[in-house]
Amino acid sequence: MNKVVGGIFTSHVPGIGGAIAKGLQQDPYWKPFFDGFLPIHDWLAREKPDVAVVFYNDHGLNFFLDKMPTFAIGAASEYRHEDEGWGIAFNKPYPGIPELSWHIIETVVANEFDPVTCQAMLVDHAVAVPYELCWPDAPEFTTKLVPIAINTVQHPLPSPKRCLELGRTVGHALASWQGPEKIVVMGTGGLSHQLEGKRAGFLNKEFDHFCMDNIGPNPEALLKYDSLDIVELAGSQGVEILNWLAARGAMQGKVVELEANYHVPISNTAAATMLFENREKVAA
Ligand code: DHB
Ligand code: FE
Repeated sequence: MNKVVGGIFTSHVPGIGGAIAKGLQQDPYWKPFFDGFLPIHDWLAREKPDVAVVFYNDHGLNFFLDKMPTFAIGAASEYRHEDEGWGIAFNKPYPGIPELSWHIIETVVANEFDPVTCQAMLVDHAVAVPYELCWPDAPEFTTKLVPIAINTVQHPLPSPKRCLELGRTVGHALASWQGPEKIVVMGTGGLSHQLEGKRAGFLNKEFDHFCMDNIGPNPEALLKYDSLDIVELAGSQGVEILNWLAARGAMQGKVVELEANYHVPISNTAAATMLFENREKVAA
């Protein structure tokens, strides 16, 4: 049986958190983005995943530039959000599932990845905003979190190939997990955006569409670029697409696109949301 029932891919712009706090979901500026989550709410209500394995990048909250792991995996029984300067106050804790975290860690280390293991870990807007978007009415979050942080911030960055491979190895771990849990994978961040420097405000719709067209059926298409190419093409923060590549790698079934929403821009970002089902492969 497929334990990974699907994948949710979304931008994690912190301003979304501000819009949620102010109840601006129907505001003309925000509505086209928030509406992209309505089919995801229906899908989540139907599938009821017990666990979310979230590939994201930390933006200086849990890891600052003085200590920046390339890959880090949370293995805590609970995670908390803290505001790293955007003014968003999300207080609901995220329950962890340390046994599954350790199973993932054991599997990736056995396959020659060397992640930092975090038995205590704060999560920033790159986890908190997607959780709020997916489960807006939850009095408390019940979907257990396995956070997997990828360095998309301080160069040198891991390659797209390495991130896809990490995701695939996590996918093997999830396939061999003996627990009864249904799992959703998430990739957060992107698409094109650059927050600083001469190119601040840079967007690239053409490259974004290339990523959205290929991430489901042909993620290898993205591997013709290295991480610096992606910085060039998508902006210095657009390289957060590495999180999407890893999450895509963790889906090992027949990946079927159910929804896609692209809305440009919110804040400085070309915002994209995608939902994929990970169907059972039928033997030929
Ligand atoms: C924005 C986007 C991000 O991915 C982020 O981490 C912070 C800010 C933005 O567009 O405002
Ligand atoms: Fe970001």
